[in-house]
Amino acid sequence: MTEPTSPAVPADRVRIYEVGPRDGLQNEARPIPLATKLRYLELLADAGLREIEATSFVAPGAIPQLADADELMASLPRRAGVRYPVLVPNGRGMARAEAAGADAIAVFTAVSDAFTTRNIRMTVAESLAAFGPVLARAGELGWWRRGYVSTAFGCPYSGAVDPATVIDVARRLLDLGVEEVCFGDTIGVGVPPQVRDLTVRAVDAGIPLERMAFHFHDTRGTALANVAAAMSAGVRCFDASTGGTGGCPYAPGAAGNLATEDLVYLLDAIGLDHGVSLEGVLEAARFIAGALGRPLATKVGQAGGWDRRTGQPTGRG
Ligand code: COA
Ligand code: ZN
Repeated sequence: MTEPTSPAVPADRVRIYEVGPRDGLQNEARPIPLATKLRYLELLADAGLREIEATSFVAPGAIPQLADADELMASLPRRAGVRYPVLVPNGRGMARAEAAGADAIAVFTAVSDAFTTRNIRMTVAESLAAFGPVLARAGELGWWRRGYVSTAFGCPYSGAVDPATVIDVARRLLDLGVEEVCFGDTIGVGVPPQVRDLTVRAVDAGIPLERMAFHFHDTRGTALANVAAAMSAGVRCFDASTGGTGGCPYAPGAAGNLATEDLVYLLDAIGLDHGVSLEGVLEAARFIAGALGRPLATKVGQAGGWDRRTGQPTGRG
């Protein structure tokens, strides 16, 4: 076997893919009114976020918090230049997304059947078969398409995962037409060397860096370190949730996503362009924390930012 080659580093522009309205809220028991969700989405766009995963067209019984997806997408005022992908698990979800006026979707599977059978009641192979017609239809409509590979670093039910399987699932999703694959560390067990290894293997398997994203959960405090590892391997798209909310109800022990404010702070500090305002993200973070009835517990949410030029704190609100 040849040693994986090191990928070239692309331009210094990072895409921040906000998942707060979907991943952030899906695990929350307190019902959040539609008007609050719409205001949250508005604040996220105001902050400069240009990719905001808005909701899920899944079975309402599976994720009651997002049962208002049809109404939300139909009433969401679209901001020019902002993409609002929605999660779709099957043909039924695709029909709903179409009727509600969506124009970007994310399909989601995982590395292990143990996880997918609980989360979407399909094996990995069955899920890929179900996504075929969904992605084909979305392609006909000219929609942007993403495919998630969850449990990419470990499964809450079957344990360790083989990176070769992760790459195999990602390649199948790309073959089905997705523009981008996103590797999800659903239970937050990945560490930087694994992230680098997976990236290099993916590139070696023919997956271009610009079609790759990472979705880290900060369950064990490694999310930002993992971002740094992926960036040094050339990845330029990261998922994050404003306020650090999130988790999958079918992934016991999953804690929140990497907080958008923590990611923005790091990117600002190292001088990478991303177009998002830390103050704006903090405003959205405070808003959603308030709606959920708890204090904002993220690092930068608590400490605020720090202007490296003036040496003064910022964003304390
Ligand atoms: N939207 C709305 N309703 C849907 C649906 C969709 N996308 N897909 C299925 N349903 C409904 C069916 O119409 C049926 O309703 P009925 O009981 O009133 O007849 C019911 O759900 C069961 O349908 P079935 O096709 O047998 O689905 P299932 O029970 O095998 O569940 C999923 C499969 C994928 C729909 C379900 O597991 C799911 O929505 N999972 C999403 C989990 C999730 O979002 N996790 C977090 C993201 S990581
Ligand atoms: Zn997540």
